[in-house]
Amino acid sequence: MSGQNRVAGKVIIITGAASGLGKADAQRLAEEGARLVLTDINAEAGQRVADSCDALFVEQDVSSEAGWHELVATTVEQFGRLDGLVNNAGIAHVANIATETTEQWHKILRVHLDGTFFGCRAAVPEMAKSGGGSIINMSSTAALVGISPYLAYSAAKGGIRAMTKSIAMYCREQKNNIRCNSVHPGSISTPMVHNALETLSGIKLMEQDDPEAARKAMGIGEPLDVANMVLFLASDESKHINGAELVVDNGDTIGQSAR
Ligand SMILES: NC(=O)c1ccc[n+]([C@@H]2O[C@H](COP(=O)([O-])OP(=O)(O)OC[C@H]3O[C@@H](n4cnc5c(N)ncnc54)[C@H](O)[C@@H]3O)[C@@H](O)[C@H]2O)c1
Repeated sequence: MSGQNRVAGKVIIITGAASGLGKADAQRLAEEGARLVLTDINAEAGQRVADSCDALFVEQDVSSEAGWHELVATTVEQFGRLDGLVNNAGIAHVANIATETTEQWHKILRVHLDGTFFGCRAAVPEMAKSGGGSIINMSSTAALVGISPYLAYSAAKGGIRAMTKSIAMYCREQKNNIRCNSVHPGSISTPMVHNALETLSGIKLMEQDDPEAARKAMGIGEPLDVANMVLFLASDESKHINGAELVVDNGDTIGQSAR
């Protein structure tokens, strides 16, 4: 896809950028002229993605409070401003109300909820100094409908959905020109979903004869589908969209087909 400079010059942090959706977001935003700071716990893969899009890579665990302060300080030191934050890093764990452990429950909430909270709290003052910005919080359709094997994940993503609206209202009241929206993908072809598919159904998507045809047949989207939404939200094209939940699921959650 050719670049039209839709986010030219904007300084944007993307977490969990070593893989899947974060990697696709980085590549798409870079094509459109963003100056990126990418983070992940996987330093080797994260650095590779950063090299491919001329970005700065910072090793970071989003659930660590201290790391956030340093990350935002490094970004502003390096680029002089902060225009966007994509809180994308995440983990999934298959467990329902009968099987969830306390340890896994806390781990999932720490990465998704603490990580998103720390990120937003660190970013808002710097974005305000930069004259505004766009925060994009990666939620899920699991925040919108019940999915039994994702108990903690659903709770975390539902929390992100609600936190996003609270932050959007705060920023609106402050008139600081910061927007905060949540994105709700359905199943998208990334390592996270490949692992879940294998655990839940024994299907190894990438080992099918034609993985691309199998993906389409199963109604699974591709990372670019989400990256294009992230690009829109990061750009000024979405300047009147705040506190919204943008669903990217080809209609999976809108209703029930005739039978
Ligand atoms: N793929 C989907 O279908 C789908 C659907 C809805 C929501 N999501 C959400 O999108 C986001 C990205 O998921 P993905 O499918 O690309 O998964 P992925 O596993 O391919 O990528 C997740 C990335 O996050 C990183 N990460 C994990 N824990 C981290 C931490 N504590 N600190 C920093 N980085 C960390 C991983 O190293 C990895 O690079 C997640 O928040 C996920 O919940 C994905």
